Amino acid sequence: MPGMNYDRYCDFIGSSSELTRLKEKVEHIARSDAKILVTGESGVGKELVARRIHKFSPRATWPFVAVNCAGLPEALLESQLFGHVKGSFTGAYRDRLGQFEVADKGTVFLDEVSEMTLRMQGLLLRFLETGELQKVGLDRQTRTVNVRVVSATNRSLREMIAEGTFREDLFYRLDVIHVEVPPLREHKEDVPQLIEHFLKRFSQNGGSRPRTLAPEVIGMLVDHPWPGNVRELENAIEHLVVTSRADVIQVDDMPLSIRRPRAVAVRPKVERRRAVVDDLYRQVIDERQSFWTSVYPMYMRRDITRSNVRDLVRRVLKEARGNYKIVTRLFNLQPQDYKKLLNFLRKHDCHVPFKEYR
Ligand SMILES: Nc1ncnc2c1ncn2[C@@H]1O[C@H](COP(=O)(O)OP(=O)(O)O)[C@@H](O)[C@H]1O
Ligand SMILES: [Mg+2]
Repeated sequence: MPGMNYDRYCDFIGSSSELTRLKEKVEHIARSDAKILVTGESGVGKELVARRIHKFSPRATWPFVAVNCAGLPEALLESQLFGHVKGSFTGAYRDRLGQFEVADKGTVFLDEVSEMTLRMQGLLLRFLETGELQKVGLDRQTRTVNVRVVSATNRSLREMIAEGTFREDLFYRLDVIHVEVPPLREHKEDVPQLIEHFLKRFSQNGGSRPRTLAPEVIGMLVDHPWPGNVRELENAIEHLVVTSRADVIQVDDMPLSIRRPRAVAVRPKVERRRAVVDDLYRQVIDERQSFWTSVYPMYMRRDITRSNVRDLVRRVLKEARGNYKIVTRLFNLQPQDYKKLLNFLRKHDCHVPFKEYR
C-alpha cells in the first residue's frame, strides 16, 4: 500500500490564520506538563496535534503511546492501559506491561476518551490523581509512573456530563488546557496546500511520476464541504493518484461524489445524463465499488436521479445479457444480495425488464 512507510503525522500543513494560531498554541503549550484535551470533528487532525505536542515537549526523547479507548472491551482496555499479571484472566499467559508503563517519562495519547465506561473512567481518575499503577490481577499498587496525558474526543463531554455518561471530576482533570481543532470547511484556504502535499506524498510512495491537478479540479476541491475533513481529502487524493493515469488530473477523473453540481448542471440535459451514467459505470465496474456503498447512497441523498440508476441498470444488464444474477456480481454484491437488489430496483421503479436483452 502506498504511504505505508511514511510517517503521516510528521507534517502539519496550512498557513491560514486558523492553523497558524493552532500551530503557535501547540508549540507554546507543549513546554508545560499540563494535561491537554484536544477536541474537534473526526479527521481534523487531533492525533496530529497530540503528536506535535509530544514532539515539542521536553519529553520528546521518551515514548509517545497512542491508545484508542473506543472499540475495545473494558477488560482489554484496562489491561492495555495498566498491564496485567500472569493468570489474572483466561489467556493472560504472562505478565504484561501497560501502556502507561511503556510511556514512562513520555506522553500517552488517549483517543476517543469519551468511549470509556464509567468504571474505566473511575480507574483512570484514580491513576491521574496518584500516578500509581494497579495492574489487573494485583491488589497492591505496583509502581508510580510519570506520564503526560493528552486526550481527544469528537463528542461533547459537557453534554455527556449532563447525561450522566461522563464523570465531571475526570473531565476537569483531563481538560486543563483545551485545544480545539477547526473543521476543514473553516479554513478552506489551506486546501490547495494540502492537495499539493498529499499529491507529492502519494505519487512518491507509489513510485509514479509527479502529478498535478487541472485548475478546475482544484477549484472544485476547494468548494467541496469536506464533512470528513483532512482525512477525507487525504483519501480522495490517494484515490485519484491510484486510479487516474493522466499526468494532469481532469474534472472527468474526479469521483462523482466530489464534483460540483453546478459544473454538471451547465451541460445540456442529455449529455449530462450520459456523463452521470458513465461515472456510475466507472465506479461500479472499473473501480469495483459495491452498489450499496457507491450508487445507493448517492441515490438516497438525491445526488443522482431514478433515471440515472435506471440507465446504469440498463447498461450493465445489457452486458449481462439480461441475467440479473450476473448484474448482482457486476455490482460487486454477494450472490445472496440478489433478492435485496431486485427488491430495491422494483421498489424504486429502476427495474428494467430483462427480456429486452435476452
Ligand atoms: N494540517 C494537516 N497537515 C497535514 N496532514 C494533516 C493535517 N491535519 C490532518 N492531517 C492528516 O489527516 C489524517 C487525519 O488526521 P488525524 O489526526 O488522525 O485526525 P483525527 O484524530 O482528528 O480524527 C492524518 O493522516 C493526518 O496526518
Ligand atoms: Mg483520530
